[in-house]
Amino acid sequence: MDTQNLRITLDFNNMMTDYVGPNGITEDDIKGSEKALEKAYSGMEEKRASGKMDWRDLPYNQDDVVDDILNYVDSVKDDTDAFVVLGIGGSALGPLAVQQAINHPFYNELPREKRGNYPRLYVADNIDPERLPYLFDIIDLKKTIFNCVSKSGSTSETMSQFLIIKTLIEEKLGKAEAAKHIVCTTDKEKGNLIGIAKEEGYKTFIIPSGVGGRFSELTPVGLLPAAMCGIDIKEMLKGAAFMDELSKVKDVYKNPAYMFALLHMIGMKKGKNISVMLPYADSLKYISDWYAQLWAESLGKKYDNYGNIVNYGQTPVKSLGVTDQHSQIQLYAEGPSDKIIVFIAVDKFKKETAIPKIYGDIPSLGFLGGATQNKLIETERIATEYALQKAEKTNMTITLPEVNEFTLGELLYFFEVATGFAGELLEIDAFDQPGVEEGKNATYAMFGRPGYDEKRKELESRPAKNNAYII
Ligand code: PA5
Repeated sequence: MDTQNLRITLDFNNMMTDYVGPNGITEDDIKGSEKALEKAYSGMEEKRASGKMDWRDLPYNQDDVVDDILNYVDSVKDDTDAFVVLGIGGSALGPLAVQQAINHPFYNELPREKRGNYPRLYVADNIDPERLPYLFDIIDLKKTIFNCVSKSGSTSETMSQFLIIKTLIEEKLGKAEAAKHIVCTTDKEKGNLIGIAKEEGYKTFIIPSGVGGRFSELTPVGLLPAAMCGIDIKEMLKGAAFMDELSKVKDVYKNPAYMFALLHMIGMKKGKNISVMLPYADSLKYISDWYAQLWAESLGKKYDNYGNIVNYGQTPVKSLGVTDQHSQIQLYAEGPSDKIIVFIAVDKFKKETAIPKIYGDIPSLGFLGGATQNKLIETERIATEYALQKAEKTNMTITLPEVNEFTLGELLYFFEVATGFAGELLEIDAFDQPGVEEGKNATYAMFGRPGYDEKRKELESRPAKNNAYII
């Protein structure tokens, strides 16, 4: 396979003033960023060398991990009808996005033989009290494996699911048998999960310590559920390695991930505070969800590295072509110029669907006939891109030659590098998430977790709600 034919590309013409007028970015804006680029480039190199970006090495250092995953999948798949991921955020969005991208869109509904004899996949990424009971209606516990995924090994949402599942399957199957139905993916020492897993004898996969949740899709967090559904994880890692090579190039005009980050950061400083992800392929719908977490949680920061209050961040919006042409595009075309809209185009779909040539006598309908939906979706994408450019709205297009494991690995890695680089450009820490701590701690306090008495008192003294405002 010629990997160059599988290279994804970034077309940023419509980000530039030449195409979208004064709302756009100029060559001078890019040239004027030279110092910031140099600093960010060195920051990326230094962090990588000093082990602060361990996710960048994942395409290269996981041969044993991949073997372990594939052997495990082989050993359990024949007796497994459903594989259920228990996780949230970075421990759930990647598996969903990859499954949707690569496998049949109705994978779970397919008869087993059409699934390549692999289990169905469910991702339980919320604690809505209806979720698990309804899931139990459609799975056979005797033929289900639950994959408890938590980097910290202590996330309340995931651990509450674990407690429910463990109790239920031990009741139904007995302790010894139940242990074969739980597999844990977690840090090698942090949190409660690793200790429990060892004690109970659960099969365990390790998330490398230096890889944070939202950057963990290419660890067993994502690789195990993918392999469990027949997805070629070696190809995903090869695609990521390919993008890593492209991402080492210093010249921003030759480095699509760096250019993506730079344009977004220049745009942000010009008031473009919204990042719309608009794939024109159902298969890439959940990439928008995965990207939304990556971009929002990494770049939405109050402080910069020097302690200054900056309140940076772009709000990610999940969109889908062509569906949202009939809902959100009106706003994108005529609303405020506060967005960067990222089309994701696919050159070659897995299917070609012909539109029958009938009703030739009705010109306003007959014109569709004889073409394909492939041509129609691409035409509509180009037409929407044109409409946005004419309306002077900044947009760019990422094109995948086709959606397969290799290009998906490239795309995931592309967004990760872009996010890391954007963090360097902004001089913020893209790898922490202090903003989610307050809500977590308040939950612990209210739920009676030991050690949270002070927080409980603080909560009790919060202003009482004014009933006049509850109507
Ligand atoms: O990116 C992050 O770190 C978070 O979104 C986590 O993925 C999420 O909070 C789940 O954490 P954990 O995997 O530790 O249970």
